[in-house]
Amino acid sequence: MQQPQIIAELSRLFSVEVDAVQAYGAAVALLGPGPLRDELALFGLEHQRHALVVQDQIVRRGYHSPDVTPDVKGVVIGALTPPRRPLGVEDVLMGIRGNEQLTGSLYAKALARKLPDDVREALARIHAEERHHLDWVERTLARRSWESAARP
Ligand SMILES: [Fe+2]
Repeated sequence: MQQPQIIAELSRLFSVEVDAVQAYGAAVALLGPGPLRDELALFGLEHQRHALVVQDQIVRRGYHSPDVTPDVKGVVIGALTPPRRPLGVEDVLMGIRGNEQLTGSLYAKALARKLPDDVREALARIHAEERHHLDWVERTLARRSWESAARP
């Protein structure tokens, strides 16, 4: 890939990561204290780190990362638009799952292209963590662990 295309790809991933940080912030704000919220807060921090790693790849090539206004209406969970009913844990997790599916597929798409080794290495590491996020969300949704956690 030519440099401008690499930068365009990295810029898109950077924007998605910034959106994800915003989405996790919204999710964490909706949940009560407990292991579920702690895990989502950790994932949010990992997305912050991903944004910095992607930004570093842009900057070391002499470009600037894009100014990102988090996309409140778009990929972000419905939490930020007035819901018809109060959002439950399941709604939040389903929103997060949708985001993670999108994020993961964008990394897979980027990794399918011809990339410089350092970019590939950085994106592959992030992609593995994204896979972990999605696996965790899917497992948690399947087990509905928050229901048993609420019982004494
Ligand atoms: Fe993620």
